Amino acid sequence: MSLTALTCYVTSQLHFFHITFSSPFTILSFIGLLGSVLVKPCGRLVRPVAPTRIPGRYLSHQEGLPKLPVPSLQQTCERYLAILEPIVDEEELSHTKELLAEFQKAGGVGERLQKGLERRARKTENWLSDWWLTTAYLDYRMPVVVHSSPGVVLPRLEFSDRQGQMRFAAKLIAGVLDFKTMIDNETLPVEYLGGKQLCMNQYYQVLSSCRIPGLKRDSVVNHAHRSRPPAHITVVHNFQFFVLDVYNSDGTPLTVDQLYMQLEKVWSSSLQTNKEPIGILTSNQRNSWGKAYNNLIKDKTNKDSVQAIQKSIFTVCLDAPMPCVSDELYRSRAAVQMLHGGGSRWNSGNRWFDKTLQFIIGEDGSCGLMYEHAPAEGPPIVSLIDHVVEYTKKSEMVRTPMVPLPMPLKLRFNITPEIKKDIEKAKQNMNIMVHDLDVKVIVFSHFGKNVPKTHKMSPDAFIQMGLQLAYYRMYQRCCATYESASLRMFKLGRTDTIRSCSIDSANFVKAMDDPSKQKIEKVTLLEKAVKAHRAYTDMAIHGQAIDRHLLGLKLQAIEDLTSMPEIFMDTSYAVANHYNLSTSQVPAKTDCVMCFGPVAPDGYGVCYNPMAEHINFAVSAFNSCNETNAAHMAQRLEEALLDMRMLLESTPKAKL
Ligand code: COA
Repeated sequence: MSLTALTCYVTSQLHFFHITFSSPFTILSFIGLLGSVLVKPCGRLVRPVAPTRIPGRYLSHQEGLPKLPVPSLQQTCERYLAILEPIVDEEELSHTKELLAEFQKAGGVGERLQKGLERRARKTENWLSDWWLTTAYLDYRMPVVVHSSPGVVLPRLEFSDRQGQMRFAAKLIAGVLDFKTMIDNETLPVEYLGGKQLCMNQYYQVLSSCRIPGLKRDSVVNHAHRSRPPAHITVVHNFQFFVLDVYNSDGTPLTVDQLYMQLEKVWSSSLQTNKEPIGILTSNQRNSWGKAYNNLIKDKTNKDSVQAIQKSIFTVCLDAPMPCVSDELYRSRAAVQMLHGGGSRWNSGNRWFDKTLQFIIGEDGSCGLMYEHAPAEGPPIVSLIDHVVEYTKKSEMVRTPMVPLPMPLKLRFNITPEIKKDIEKAKQNMNIMVHDLDVKVIVFSHFGKNVPKTHKMSPDAFIQMGLQLAYYRMYQRCCATYESASLRMFKLGRTDTIRSCSIDSANFVKAMDDPSKQKIEKVTLLEKAVKAHRAYTDMAIHGQAIDRHLLGLKLQAIEDLTSMPEIFMDTSYAVANHYNLSTSQVPAKTDCVMCFGPVAPDGYGVCYNPMAEHINFAVSAFNSCNETNAAHMAQRLEEALLDMRMLLESTPKAKL
């Protein structure tokens, strides 16, 4: 076989394993690696066995990814004015126009900051990622609970007792370890968006990592890439934490059966229900927690226990049953369980909120997770869930010959009066947050992605227009709207913002209930709004949206120690960044939904998982705001989507 033919063959096999290389050189250097699995019976090559480990594959993939671009200054300024149009009044808009003209003058501040950004882009792997991590997460001083960490609600499980809880927890742990093997072996399939390969870095950040509080800024530690990566998880039950080693001495993961036995031991060694909920400290405002943390870890035992949690691969929270609710309300109740644990009386102390990944399994069949947002976005987390859910379906408890395993280590904490005071304060603050958060999860069962697709519309854009219509109907105005767009086409890419509220969306929502407008005109406006949204999405995922660029210019000004340009002190800028609708699509194969809190005191958080024939929505709001109500918004959204379908279906195609 010629070298070219061999290269082609290997390339096709790599494709089979979802492996791609950036250059022929890397392909050729990889041939040696695969040599051991290429068998040549009767002179013909056969399909190689699945590689168990592909060292270097992750780095070679990452190196092939493009760098995040810096958009042009003029483009961002023009687009910024366009997004302001539906949300600020004429006077504000013309003032902002003047400020932008000044900002863009040849040889002016804008040009200088832009050059600084371009220099930064040349010198770094990604000009935005470190800034984004600190600005959006590590410098953010609000509690991670409700204000930053998302939850995920999984379908209710068919058990209502402790055995069921332990069995499922054991399968889930085994499923996560199975996924971890793909991460460790670098065999995780590369993901694509719009036909382009995505950065896989976030997958390498979510296991064995934890946020650490600071007095003014937090940090994130990742133990996965140390010379001796952790081999334990932490399990918490009745507020008591345990270290559970999940690998045998030969490096193989514990079987489901072994894990079950170990969980039983944890359960029966933590029956006391009067323990101090030490984990609730992590729910506090970050500066307060930073101070309490320094005090907590002064004690050596406490420090060792905290480090065991921080280093663990992930945490499993075995929750006490929550108050019973009807099936209809179950998902909304489960959403708050995943977001905050229900308060100090329930499961809020059964968490370490700084831990990147916490899987939550209730004795009542409730199941889901919460994650600390700094290291990753929702999609990698949900793809891990999809894998684990499939794994739990197929894995059965098989009795393995029982080599006795050591008792999982219970983590001890010495509670001084000062720590006790911090716990009490954290409990009070948590209970205030719990009372303030209003969450409604709905299953929109009338249709899913299928209906917009039949009308040749982007389902995501259709849903976003439904949200715009629902908001307009409730408040008779449009609002700044955030939708996350993935920047993972670029190396170390995180997100930018899709501005769902546009001139086109405003024209559509205003026309929709206007009796003077013909149906055909409304359909045309809807189509135009959907197309504009999809166009903004494409622009955002290709690194050409405005929000991160504006943030970059602002941070460059801070770094250069120049006075803050007026465009950032302008009312329009404040209005544009006050997101009454903070939204995100997190699609999954599993029938689950991600949920998060609002980002404005008078706003809504809306997350959705559009499936083929239905859509799961989680809507949140704050009870302390008289003008918002999650259930009303969910209801209006449902009506808006139905009305939009009705409009499309009742307008004959011939007329369009
Ligand atoms: N006609 C028919 N079908 C269409 C269509 C049209 N005009 N436009 C799109 N579709 C199809 C697509 O081909 C796709 O098909 P599939 O279901 O077979 O995959 C489907 O409809 C969905 O496309 P669309 O609704 O346009 O959205 P998307 O999948 O491209 O996702 C974003 C859009 C913004 C959600 C995505 O680009 C993104 O950035 N996701 C990451 C968000 C994120 O990070 N969130 C987490 C924050 S914690």
